[in-house]
Amino acid sequence: MEQLHGVAEVRERVAQWRHEGHTIGLVPTMGNLHDGHLSLVREARRHCDRVVVSIFVNPTQFGPGEDFDAYPRTLDADAARLREAGVEVLFAPTVEAMYPLGANRTWVDVDALGDYLCGADRPGHFRGVATVVSKLFNIVQPDVAVFGEKDFQQLAILRRMAAELLFPIRLIGAPTAREADGLAMSSRNGFLTETERARAPLLQQHLQDARRAVEQGERDYRALEKRIAVSLAEHGFDVDYVTVANATTLAPAASEDRELVIAAAARLGRPRLIDNLTLSLP
Ligand code: PAJ
Repeated sequence: MEQLHGVAEVRERVAQWRHEGHTIGLVPTMGNLHDGHLSLVREARRHCDRVVVSIFVNPTQFGPGEDFDAYPRTLDADAARLREAGVEVLFAPTVEAMYPLGANRTWVDVDALGDYLCGADRPGHFRGVATVVSKLFNIVQPDVAVFGEKDFQQLAILRRMAAELLFPIRLIGAPTAREADGLAMSSRNGFLTETERARAPLLQQHLQDARRAVEQGERDYRALEKRIAVSLAEHGFDVDYVTVANATTLAPAASEDRELVIAAAARLGRPRLIDNLTLSLP
């Protein structure tokens, strides 16, 4: 595995692969890799014969007071895992390489989809994500890019962006990798204390309760959201939102909607946890 830090080096490697007739897959990450990230690498491998994983803690997607400085940076351990997984190139750029003119002035902003769910609590977050992913697409120019369904809203926004900006790239969503007790894997789980870690799977369990209620005919989604949020709070979660949303628009679901996503974000001690599940009504 090659570890590259410069934009020009990556462009050169990719141009050579193209010349040799290879197909290229990209898996963007912020590092501190866990088995969820590695499942994306395996998915990319199924579609392409050269895989690039990027590791870049992107400053423009962190708001003031969020955990940019504290975000876990574990490049050597990450590189070892990626080498073992058979990745061809690890691209780990500096902030200067990704933001060459200093303060960024050119943004990719996907309207409306960013207003709901996490967008409401993290203004500017998805603008930072869409901008940095555009930059990565321009550098690597992959055939395929793989993202996790764990970040459901991020995936929806990036699909819309790729379609509307005519990126010739196929976006693939990969299922959420979970711990044995159901907790969605996350780089932030390491911040949970032992007691919080034991409680954390309740987030997913509450989403399953909500799904069961909808399957059994509950259509007052606002009341259901409130019930779930209250119960999470009783279990020590500081709830940002619990939403039954239209899976396409991400707006709060109406009773006639058929494709739904039930999503929640809540702080448990230090870290903010997110999770979701989807549901198709007949
Ligand atoms: P990061 O949080 O490192 O996640 C990188 C990719 O891994 C994302 O596509 C995310 O959805 C996926 N992922 C995280 N946990 C997962 C899990 N338990 N199962 C499956 N996939 C999982 O998301 C980002 O970084 C950034 O916003 C990024 C897209 C890299 C832009 O900076």
